[in-house]
Amino acid sequence: MTTTPHSDRTDHSDRTDRTDRLFLVLGATGKTGRRVVPRLRAAGHTVRAASRSGETRFDWHDRTTWAPVLAGVTGLYLIAPEDPEPVDDFVAQAAAAGVRRFVVLSGRGADVSGESFLPGMARAERAVADAGVDWTVVRANNFAQNFSEDFFHAPLLGGRLALPVGDTVEPFVDVEDIADVVVALLTEDGHTHRVYELSGPRALTYGAAVAEIAEASGRPMRFEAISPEQFLAELTADGVPAAAAQEFTDLFTFVAEGHLSSLATGVRDVLGREPKDFGAYVKSAAAAGAWG
Ligand SMILES: NC(=O)c1ccc[n+]([C@@H]2O[C@H](COP(=O)([O-])OP(=O)(O)OC[C@H]3O[C@@H](n4cnc5c(N)ncnc54)[C@H](OP(=O)(O)O)[C@@H]3O)[C@@H](O)[C@H]2O)c1
Repeated sequence: MTTTPHSDRTDHSDRTDRTDRLFLVLGATGKTGRRVVPRLRAAGHTVRAASRSGETRFDWHDRTTWAPVLAGVTGLYLIAPEDPEPVDDFVAQAAAAGVRRFVVLSGRGADVSGESFLPGMARAERAVADAGVDWTVVRANNFAQNFSEDFFHAPLLGGRLALPVGDTVEPFVDVEDIADVVVALLTEDGHTHRVYELSGPRALTYGAAVAEIAEASGRPMRFEAISPEQFLAELTADGVPAAAAQEFTDLFTFVAEGHLSSLATGVRDVLGREPKDFGAYVKSAAAAGAWG
């Protein structure tokens, strides 16, 4: 649930001079981070773009990389690692280093699923809440860009996307909207200690989503609803390690239960505009050759 009326911005304790700001973006080469970094820079902010292969080296599992990326940072975009183990220590070290504002990317339903799968996100939510810092959490639906930049992409190019989601509907969220929201949360006042849920404006079945992509790309593609057991078996046959295959299966079983099906208001609450429709995403991704 989004817990923020746009008009209720009376807390100005998080106000910071722009000139003093240094933003650290984790996962800076990823789907959201690589869109957050240029937006912040275009707005005149100083940004440290960090990941294992990015401009500034940061590795969750190499603690010698932590202090250098945190030096002087005032605001942090936190993408949780898959393994939640380092999260508490990193957040504590960041707070001790002077980071005043944390924006955490999480997933819708994380308040229900907790750490039962993809535990890094729920752990990151809890870590910032327990750290006595200014934090804002973004809980996003599955990204539209999963179909063009992530795990749905290769199966679609192969002509068949098979998931254990039945005819569940989901309002996929455009990563461009997530990036706009994250930049606003990092740079504007009035969002402290709030959870924003981000969805697209239209809930559609995975089958309908694939049909829209097939039509726009002119490629034969189909969606197949399969059982969790079959999904797990197919992932394993494709060489996905057992633990990761189980986690994916648990994730989509959770999706199938409808926890991510409702429309959320976070994009409108933060940006004062409607989120981008899946159809607009499909059109621009197809024009850019995503499935060409
Ligand atoms: N996809 C979805 O639909 C969805 C929905 C809701 C929430 N989420 C959450 O969003 C997060 C992923 O965000 P994203 O999609 O923007 O990123 P992404 O595209 O999955 O890319 C992952 C980023 O993390 C970096 N990274 C990977 N391992 C790392 C390590 N050990 N240390 C430091 N950096 C590391 C990668 O860069 P390097 O390889 O250079 O290190 C890359 O920049 C996850 O927590 C996921 O659960 C995803």
